[in-house]
Amino acid sequence: MKAVEVRGLNYGYHVDGPTVLKNINFQVNPGEMIGVMGLSGCGKSTLCYCLTGIIPHSRGGRLEGEVLVNGKNTREHTIARLALEVGMVFQNPDTQLFSPTVEDEIAFAPENMCLPPDHIQERVDYVIDLLGIDALREANPYQLSGGEKHLVALASVLALNPPVLVLDEVMSQLDKTGREKVAAALQKLRHQGKTIIAVEHDLETIAFADRLMVIDHGELVRFDRTEILLADRDFWAASQLI
Ligand SMILES: Nc1ncnc2c1ncn2[C@@H]1O[C@H](COP(=O)(O)OP(=O)(O)OP(=O)(O)O)[C@@H](O)[C@H]1O
Ligand SMILES: [Mg+2]
Repeated sequence: MKAVEVRGLNYGYHVDGPTVLKNINFQVNPGEMIGVMGLSGCGKSTLCYCLTGIIPHSRGGRLEGEVLVNGKNTREHTIARLALEVGMVFQNPDTQLFSPTVEDEIAFAPENMCLPPDHIQERVDYVIDLLGIDALREANPYQLSGGEKHLVALASVLALNPPVLVLDEVMSQLDKTGREKVAAALQKLRHQGKTIIAVEHDLETIAFADRLMVIDHGELVRFDRTEILLADRDFWAASQLI
């Protein structure tokens, strides 16, 4: 089974408005790490919402085609059910942080799922250690820097241990040390078999992905192994991406 399968995906936020994603088709294998690139406004975040069921369940609009995550069709399952298959860190993490302390924030989703308390504490400690954020345990998530908020949002997504992760420009707001920390954590998660789809606009940040996807004005224009795409100088020269 594919980790992600997208077939004939067309999407517009408004029934009569522009088509933001245009006939997108791709598959991702379990354990693959995919980098998603494209100019601002090309539809990267919109694709992320489609992969997690936020579209169509909470944004409405006009959706054609199918999106399957771990075999589950996003139309046929609630966002809460899909959260067990796929976790997303938003481009703006403020939208997903609401607890008084970082530790509470990370424990929130597993508590909501009624996991046993011992298991929750184990999971919280594991992700705090994985991301190296022990010093932030008692901090208020709202008072953190943009980069730290992304780390906490990532930790709270990882607390549920979903097999597929969707990360929307998580690394761009981090400093060099933060980026290295997250890159190391992602490598470790990939070795554990997680499927990771990471939107990043900086090629260097995402160059360790297995494959790179490039979106241009809502169309998927390239999806190749990273080394093949990196070697295609004509493509990069024409793409305005670097
Ligand atoms: N809620 C919305 N309602 C209507 N149009 C929207 C909405 N959100 C995004 N769009 C439009 O959809 C298109 C794709 O936006 P999206 O945010 O997916 O791009 P992006 O590639 O993530 O951009 P960025 O790199 O700036 O984050 C843009 O034209 C944007 O204006
Ligand atoms: Mg975006």
